[in-house]
Amino acid sequence: MKITILTLFPEMFTGPFSCSIIKRAAEKGLVELETVNLRDFTKDRHRTVDDTPYGGGPGMVLKPEPVFEAVETIIGKKGRKPYTVLTTPQGEVFRQQIATELAGKEELLFICGHYEGYDERIRTLADRELSIGDYVLTGGELPAMVMIDAVVRLLPGALGAPEAASNDSFSAGLLDYPQYTKPAVYKGLVVPDVLLSGHHQQIAAWRRREALLRTAERRRDLLVQADLSREERAFLAEKFPGLYGSEDAPAGRTLRGRARGKREEKG
Ligand code: ADE
Repeated sequence: MKITILTLFPEMFTGPFSCSIIKRAAEKGLVELETVNLRDFTKDRHRTVDDTPYGGGPGMVLKPEPVFEAVETIIGKKGRKPYTVLTTPQGEVFRQQIATELAGKEELLFICGHYEGYDERIRTLADRELSIGDYVLTGGELPAMVMIDAVVRLLPGALGAPEAASNDSFSAGLLDYPQYTKPAVYKGLVVPDVLLSGHHQQIAAWRRREALLRTAERRRDLLVQADLSREERAFLAEKFPGLYGSEDAPAGRTLRGRARGKREEKG
C-alpha cells in the first residue's frame, strides 16, 4: 500500500512513522509513506497557504489553489487518483470498520487541514471526509496519524501474530475480553482459574462471555450492531434486565428499540 499525506507540517510525521509497528511495516515493504509539503505548491514569495474568509469573520481559511495544485501533481505522477481522505471535525466519525475498508485500498491520500477551516471547494477533491471524534484539534495531522496507524496495523504481516488484528476490540463488534500474563498472582490480584486450566474450549467460552459482559457494561451502543446468537442475547438479557426492552419500546430507548429504529431508517 502507498500512503501520501498532504500537509503543512511534514516534520510532525517523522516520530510516529519511525517507531514500532509502522516503522517495521515500512521496512518490510508493506507500506510506503510519503509526506508532501503543501507550501511547495504556493506561487508567491511568502508561500501563502491561507487567507481571510469572504464575508468576514475571525480566523484564516486554507486557500484552494495550493491544495488543488498539489493533488493534481500527485495524480499526474501516479497516473491515477488515490482514494482521498480529507480530515475534518465535520466528517464521518472514524471507526474500526472504516480502518478495514481503507486497509483494502492500494493507494491512499490524506489531505490535512490547518487553520480555522478549508475553502469549501477543497471538499470536492475528497472521496471521504473523516473525523476522529467530536473535538477540534489544531490541524488534521494528528487525525491522519491516528487513522494511518489504525490502517497500517491491519495490513497482512504488520503485526507479529497473523490473527492478532482479528482478536481486537471492535473487530467482532465487541470490546475485547480481559487479558492476563504472568505472574498468576500479583499484589493479591489473581488470574481467573479457567485461563490456567489449559482447557481451550472453556477458555474460548469464558472470553466470549467476558467480551459480551464488558461491551454491555461499557458500550451498549455497540451491541445493537454486534452479531450475537440467540443464547448470547438471552445471557445478556438475564444479566442486564431491561437491556433489550420490549418490542414496542420507543426507538432509541432500548437496544431492541434502537435496532428497530435503525431498521426503520434503512427502510
Ligand atoms: N481537524 C481538527 N479536528 C479534527 C478532528 N477531530 N478530526 C479530524 N480532523 C480534524
